[in-house]
Amino acid sequence: MPANPCCAPASATAASNANAGCCGPAKEQSQEQQQQQQPAAVVTAELTAQGVRDTVQQYYGTELKTSDDLKTSACKACTPPPPQIRQLLKELPNEVVEKFYGCGTPLPLGTTGLRVLDLGSGSGRDCYVAARLVGESGFVTGVDMTPEQLDVAVRNLDAYTRDVCKFSKPNMKFVRGEIEYLDKAGIPDASQDIVISNCVINLSPDKPRVLSEVYRVLAAGGEMYFSDVYCDRRLTPEVRNHPVMIGECLGGALYVNDFLRICRKVGFSDPRYLSVDPLTVDDAELAKVAGDAKFYSITFRLFKLPEGELEDGAEDYGHEAIYKGSLPGSLQSYTLDDGSTLLTGVPQRVDANTAAILAGSWLAPHFMVLGDRSNHRGAFPRATPSLDERCAASAAVAAAASGSGGGGGSGCCGPEDNTKAAVGGNGCCGPAEEAPKAAAAAGGCCGPAKEEPKAAAGGGCCGPAKEAPKAAAAAGGCCGPA
Ligand SMILES: C[S@@+](CC[C@H](N)C(=O)[O-])C[C@H]1O[C@@H](n2cnc3c(N)ncnc32)[C@H](O)[C@@H]1O
Repeated sequence: MPANPCCAPASATAASNANAGCCGPAKEQSQEQQQQQQPAAVVTAELTAQGVRDTVQQYYGTELKTSDDLKTSACKACTPPPPQIRQLLKELPNEVVEKFYGCGTPLPLGTTGLRVLDLGSGSGRDCYVAARLVGESGFVTGVDMTPEQLDVAVRNLDAYTRDVCKFSKPNMKFVRGEIEYLDKAGIPDASQDIVISNCVINLSPDKPRVLSEVYRVLAAGGEMYFSDVYCDRRLTPEVRNHPVMIGECLGGALYVNDFLRICRKVGFSDPRYLSVDPLTVDDAELAKVAGDAKFYSITFRLFKLPEGELEDGAEDYGHEAIYKGSLPGSLQSYTLDDGSTLLTGVPQRVDANTAAILAGSWLAPHFMVLGDRSNHRGAFPRATPSLDERCAASAAVAAAASGSGGGGGSGCCGPEDNTKAAVGGNGCCGPAEEAPKAAAAAGGCCGPAKEEPKAAAGGGCCGPAKEAPKAAAAAGGCCGPA
């Protein structure tokens, strides 16, 4: 937990003070002074592209030391990874795991021999796992702009390749570059089978450019499989330009429908939702800045097929698809997206786009697809659930996976694996093997049961009971010694 859970670290706080009325140390200003000086809402000028990059680099390069320093659940994975991935996560170098700031598990299984590119690879967690999944015949490239993050990924590479992967030479590399300019980072056209990314695109000042670069570097039949933060509405300038909101992957979150429009414009005609998790803004000051906006971590799948093969909607030509049961971790069935699960060996009616994806993408060896486009039968019925309905469906899938040994399903997130559990339904998370953590009855503050209970002092601020109680400054909901 950060030293001052309701405010940004020192340097970010200074920036926040200037822009959005965040909190400063209680000793420096009286509460009255703070109330006078902090307007309820400050509309700030749009940051330049370079301003966004500088903010992001400072946040991930120097502000954050480990994922424990994050102030929201935005940059932490929530849908539990499948057991195969959890096993691989246990074998990662500590330093790589500690600096994981992702919001999902964008690591498709069955990728042996494929070329994988990770946008905003950070300390390398997903690349390290992907390197095991693609094996010695595949290759993984990580691109990131923050030297401190790249250093962690690079300095653990040789020992991991030798001692854990037991490969004769590394099958991954890390490149310093900007994800809007993959050409300058040396990534050629049509050179990648899978592009992954974990909680990064929201941080880009030019998201359409990132998506069109991804479209360029993917080979036909390739896929972008990634997790990122989205919002249920277009954010105000105050949220968009707040340095800590940006750093925490919230300020740059796109209204999800605007994101889908960008996808279609650059050529990804039929974006698919795989899972949706709700995000919480626990920090009182940031929650105030966020207002009514609701944030979600979403894993999307964007397929690139030869021009004209994907339409912008689901059409019925009477296609059928049969899953062969051959993808790792998907013996009984395969989930293509949150609305399409195919049972092994059972012919299933699919729309023409799904038929094209299953017959023409990297998934093709695992499916038999029957039919052609000679006889159109009208629109193929496809549900369009709300984000909250998709969340409920994802939670149900996670719970089912948990029941079958999938683990997690509790809404608790952990960097190494997802064996963390919400104990006793109180919303507190901790490794199952540790002493259970408890929410102090009144305040919703969590701590190991054996420790002295922590207390929320009327303002949603948490701290050990024996310390001076912490108080939320009346106007701003900021926490600090009374
Ligand atoms: C939230 S962290 C996620 C890192 C990593 N994907 C993970 O899951 O741990 C965001 C990372 O994206 C990088 N990043 C953000 N914007 C970028 C850009 N425009 N170009 C390259 N890297 C960027 C940052 O340097 C940082 O390492």
